[in-house]
Amino acid sequence: MISQTRMISATLFVALLMISVSVLAMDPATLYHERTCIACHGAEGKQPVMEEYPKLAGQAEAYLLTQMKDIKNGYRTNAHSVAMQNVMHLVSDEEIAVLAKWLSSLPE
Ligand code: HEC
Repeated sequence: MISQTRMISATLFVALLMISVSVLAMDPATLYHERTCIACHGAEGKQPVMEEYPKLAGQAEAYLLTQMKDIKNGYRTNAHSVAMQNVMHLVSDEEIAVLAKWLSSLPE
C-alpha cells in the first residue's frame, strides 16, 4: 500500500514537472522564432519582409487573437493569407493566445 502511494506521488511529480516544462516552452519570444513568425513579420513584429505584410507590434490583443484564428480557420482570405495559413496549422490556440498577448505588449 505504501509503495503504491509512493508510485502515485512519483507519477504526479513527473506529471507536474512536464506541465511546468511545457509552460516554460510557451515563452512568446521563443515561440515567435520557432514558429517562423519572424521570417515574415520581422523582429518583434515591426519589420515585415514585404510591404503587403502587416506590422504586429502594439495592435490590440483581441484583434490579433481574432485575426490569427480567422486566418488559421480560413475565414480571412486574400492574396497573401495563404502564406500564413501554411504556418498556422502548426500553432495551437493556446500558443495563439500567448503570442497575441505578447505582440500587443510590444511598442509599435
Ligand atoms: C510565410 C509568411 C508568414 C508567416 C511565417 C507568418 N505570417 Fe502572419 N501574416 C502573413 C501575411 C501575409 C499576413 C496578412 C494575411 C492577410 O491579410 O490575410 C499575416 C497576418 C498576420 C496577422 C494579422 C495582422 C493584422 O494586422 O491583421 C497576425 C496577428 C499574424 N500574421 C501573426 C503571425 C504569427 C504570430 C505568426 C507565427 C506563428 C505568423 N503570423 C507567421 C504572413 C506570415
